[in-house]
Amino acid sequence: MGESMSGLKRSHMCGEITNALIGQEITVMGWVQRRRDLGQLIFIALRDRTGIIQATIDGNSADPELFHKAESIRSEYVLAIKGTLAERTEGNINKNMKTGDIEILISELRILSESETPPFQVEDSITVKDDLRLKYRYIDLRRPSLFKNIKLRHDVVQNVRSYLNSQGFLEIETPILGKSTPEGARDYLVPSRVHPGMFYGLPQSPQLFKQILMVSGMDRYYQIAKCFRDEDLRADRQPEFTQIDMELSFIDEDDIMTVNEGLIKELFKNALGVDVQTPFIRMTYQEAMDRFGSDKPDIRFGIELKNISELVKDTEFGVFKNALEAGGSVRAINAKGCGSFPRKQIDSLGEVAKLFGAKGLAWIAINDKGDIKSPIQKFFAEDKFKEIMDAMEAETGDLILFCADKDKIVYDALGALRLEIAKRKELTDPKDFRFLWVTEFPLLEWDDEENRYVAVHHPFTAPMDEDIPFIDSDPGRVRARAYDMVLNGVELGGGSIRIHRSDIQEKMFELLGFTKEDAYERFGFLLEAFKYGVPPHGGLAFGLDRIVMLMSGASSIRDVMAFPKVKDASCPMTDAPNVVDEKQLAELGIDVIETEEKTEE
Ligand code: AMO
Ligand code: AMP
Repeated sequence: MGESMSGLKRSHMCGEITNALIGQEITVMGWVQRRRDLGQLIFIALRDRTGIIQATIDGNSADPELFHKAESIRSEYVLAIKGTLAERTEGNINKNMKTGDIEILISELRILSESETPPFQVEDSITVKDDLRLKYRYIDLRRPSLFKNIKLRHDVVQNVRSYLNSQGFLEIETPILGKSTPEGARDYLVPSRVHPGMFYGLPQSPQLFKQILMVSGMDRYYQIAKCFRDEDLRADRQPEFTQIDMELSFIDEDDIMTVNEGLIKELFKNALGVDVQTPFIRMTYQEAMDRFGSDKPDIRFGIELKNISELVKDTEFGVFKNALEAGGSVRAINAKGCGSFPRKQIDSLGEVAKLFGAKGLAWIAINDKGDIKSPIQKFFAEDKFKEIMDAMEAETGDLILFCADKDKIVYDALGALRLEIAKRKELTDPKDFRFLWVTEFPLLEWDDEENRYVAVHHPFTAPMDEDIPFIDSDPGRVRARAYDMVLNGVELGGGSIRIHRSDIQEKMFELLGFTKEDAYERFGFLLEAFKYGVPPHGGLAFGLDRIVMLMSGASSIRDVMAFPKVKDASCPMTDAPNVVDEKQLAELGIDVIETEEKTEE
């Protein structure tokens, strides 16, 4: 049920009405934020995506039928309101509202659509469970904070397009229905009706197509590309997400970094009004791990890792000794100002370390009075203990945390503790944007499960020239011509210079344990294309969702996507995924095997 809007034309958006229009007749349309009745006076707050305007009707002077209609109005009804803009009377002014000193005196009111009582109020201040928000996403999206994020996302995309266009890039679409070439995450598969038993794979990224576009001489490509990865969801991961994807020919790392620093500078300036300093710091992977215990370091605060292996190499303290003898290391961080943490808090830090595989967490706490507490003091002679304290620049009020283990565990545990302490001590400001490039990633990492090397970035990433001699003798030490752009502890984007020599590409496949046939089976079309003249090339892809998340200050990429999925990759609004008709399955030649319902982890 609803009245027609015929004969009425919207003259203004609610949030754009100003005092300059006082005395004029205006028409607004939107949703009812709330209705308040004060005896013979009714106030209606009407909302559209720009804001809220108040409209009033006075029962003493109004047409009774119109007044009666106003009385029937409820939250989230859709209205058209016509009237004269007036100044509010003294007592009715709301200083917290942009249009708080004006109101529309209603002369015409139409109910364009009614609404049931919404499952939650359209207010930024209320907390609603995520599942409910996503089931009623259309209502959730009426909230001003979400609209702001969606608008910011739009602005970012428009700026990406205009900047990359100005740099000679062409926007080119690549297929969604492609060939499954899993390497990394799992692929989403789409069955083919025409070719029973065969499947398309949805792209995890347009990687192979964009490289082939370079073979085609397109020179500079970009795409705002939908990507699909069947992996576990986290705050910054969705099964379906968007990349700002690009590839360039006849370039080196410096060219790619310069173009992308320019892009970020432009985006932040135009969409957020923030000046970003370029060029960004560059840090090798090794330095990032040694100093921050992470390949995506948050450099807004210190608490850097220190390697004290050398200092404690002759210790009899079993925990340190065993780790060193096993080829690991002993490293520590100084959590400044945490020396008075109660025992319970320190123990909970130990629990964090354990999540990352640490067997324990040794510590020295120096409280504000200078008293030292430490479960490991007894293992060290007085002068050695002092040397350790000096190395860690330990002062009154500090808490030193030690981890002894394999390097990977030490980095992961102390890297996570750094972040945990920053969180507890509120050391970071979301509006402080600290970008950096992390470079010289390892080319390969050993995968115990698969019992083979896997590519850290992907199999098409070029090794660093000076490391090519070690490809056969010591593949684990070969560094890649890969780079990540990192912002405040989040990997915003990553890319690499690609292999364009077929001998090195073949070697790479060999290292990854593929036979020549395997490699051709999976990537034959790329190898084939590379036989016909391939320019040296490289590229990068940003996570659009992650960029907008950090720009908006949101804590999850869900808040910058119109219709995100929940943790088990389902959509509470549409109930996707879902069963399909027997007929559809029969056409596809698919038989569904009943399995026990998977229980939620
Ligand atoms: P990569 O796999 O590093 O590189 O992805 C590039 C960027 O995409 C974002 N991203 C995601 N965002 C949300 N949800 C996800 N599940 C998700 N996975 C990745 C991240 C990441 O930095 N083809 C290469 C790029 C290249 O070499 O040019 C690629 O896809 O921000
Ligand atoms: P223990 O002698 O085993 O009681 O350990 C003494 C202290 O060392 C305790 O505080 C443990 O939590 C800590 N610890 C145990 N394993 C490790 C480790 N791998 N790295 C750092 N500290 C540890």
